[in-house]
Amino acid sequence: VSKLKTTYFCQSCGYQSPKWLGKCPSCSAWNTFVEEIIEKPNASIPNWKAPTTTTSTQRSQKPQEINSIAYNEQQRILTNDSELNRVLGGGIVPGSLVLIGGEPGIGKSTLMLQLALNLKGHRVLYVSGEESDQQIKMRAERIEENSSKGECFILTETSTQNIFKQIEELEPRIVIIDSIQTLYSAHIESTPGSVSQVRECTAELLRFAKETATPVFLIGHITKDGMIAGPKILEHMVDTVLQFEGDRHYSYRILRAVKNRFGSASELGIYEMQGSGLREVSNPSEILLSQRDEPLSGVTVSATVEGARTMLVETQALVSHSAYGTPQRSATGYDTRRMNMLLAVLEKRGGFKLGVKDVFVNITGGIRIEDPAIDLGLVAAIISSNEDIPVSYKTCFAAEVGLSGEIRAVNRIEQRIAEAEKLGFEQIFISKYNQKALDLKRFNIEIVSVGKIEEVFNYLF
Ligand code: TYD
Ligand code: MG
Repeated sequence: VSKLKTTYFCQSCGYQSPKWLGKCPSCSAWNTFVEEIIEKPNASIPNWKAPTTTTSTQRSQKPQEINSIAYNEQQRILTNDSELNRVLGGGIVPGSLVLIGGEPGIGKSTLMLQLALNLKGHRVLYVSGEESDQQIKMRAERIEENSSKGECFILTETSTQNIFKQIEELEPRIVIIDSIQTLYSAHIESTPGSVSQVRECTAELLRFAKETATPVFLIGHITKDGMIAGPKILEHMVDTVLQFEGDRHYSYRILRAVKNRFGSASELGIYEMQGSGLREVSNPSEILLSQRDEPLSGVTVSATVEGARTMLVETQALVSHSAYGTPQRSATGYDTRRMNMLLAVLEKRGGFKLGVKDVFVNITGGIRIEDPAIDLGLVAAIISSNEDIPVSYKTCFAAEVGLSGEIRAVNRIEQRIAEAEKLGFEQIFISKYNQKALDLKRFNIEIVSVGKIEEVFNYLF
């Protein structure tokens, strides 16, 4: 009697254990272990095999002096989507495995189909396990700038073995998988989307990508808390992880490189979801600032840097007396814990009694900002709302706030000041530690350098 080989996997991080565990020793999650059958008895299913199987065994495994290693920058494939090119680090690297993660409905399929339709001169295979050919055709019809010259092929299939069979016949230059959670390999018994299935399918695609130098894009759903659903392990296997994010009630979408073996991991692409597909946004500041010509209390603008680009974003705060016993705290587009820290600083260093107030903070446009340089603008917005005194709409902020209320320097300060100046701001608050290295005469904007939050308040309110 042949016995099925099974293992327990933590569904949250992919940790493997021979027996069931209540708590995952790796990610500390409770009740996440599920038994999965990882191997079929005597499986003799064909798998991906490169047409030529000579190279790897013959190559010498001796250490090589680094200067003697020949290296030629691989020819990257440039897409006609300049945001995507930038986030990838300058186009698609041959043989790379790229994971695109995002919540359902955010636009992953649209982004990838748009790529497939517009890649001139390259045959693309779009494999979908989620939708029918007709559904995909319908989406393609919506996408306006569709320059496909008959080189985009759609395959609705979920078995990796069948997919490889089709790939061998079609010989595409690029393969897109929508989504990795729908695939299954005949080598593994467990259901699609389980840790072992996702891992096996990714491993097979990885081998295929590396052996044929074909770039493969994997779409992956992520759960609410921002993890690529189930296996974190996926992130370690692929070369590049791109996160597609945004608030579904807004039309702006951000494509963020979370990991990139071929470029900077802090790069960012911005899109707007329109009725006719995703449109690149090349000057984000102009759209992220709401049009207003009179100052409002609780609203400030900060000069942030994400990746290599500067964006002016608007922060809004609402501070009001708590209607119920426990004050409410909520932040959209900003880390709530960090907001609570800033509130504690304001309480302690600024003497503001915010402990009994509701505080709501919002970054406009539905985008999420990680740059700490937004701190000062946020603090100013909170106090502006609390005091009901507006901050001039010609004033901008760019500084981090420390635990003792000190105003800290931020990187790329010149770039931030230049962006504020370009968009017509007349005044910018920065840290005095940033000012030292600056040539103030270069700028046509009033630069206010401060060292403590008290100074900012004295100046503004
Ligand atoms: P989709 O790409 O299916 O998201 P995902 O693959 O991440 O689940 O896109 C989802 C939403 O985008 C859907 O609600 C419809 C909307 N959409 C547009 O607004 N305009 C368009 O041109 C397309 C194709 C979709
Ligand atoms: Mg989809």
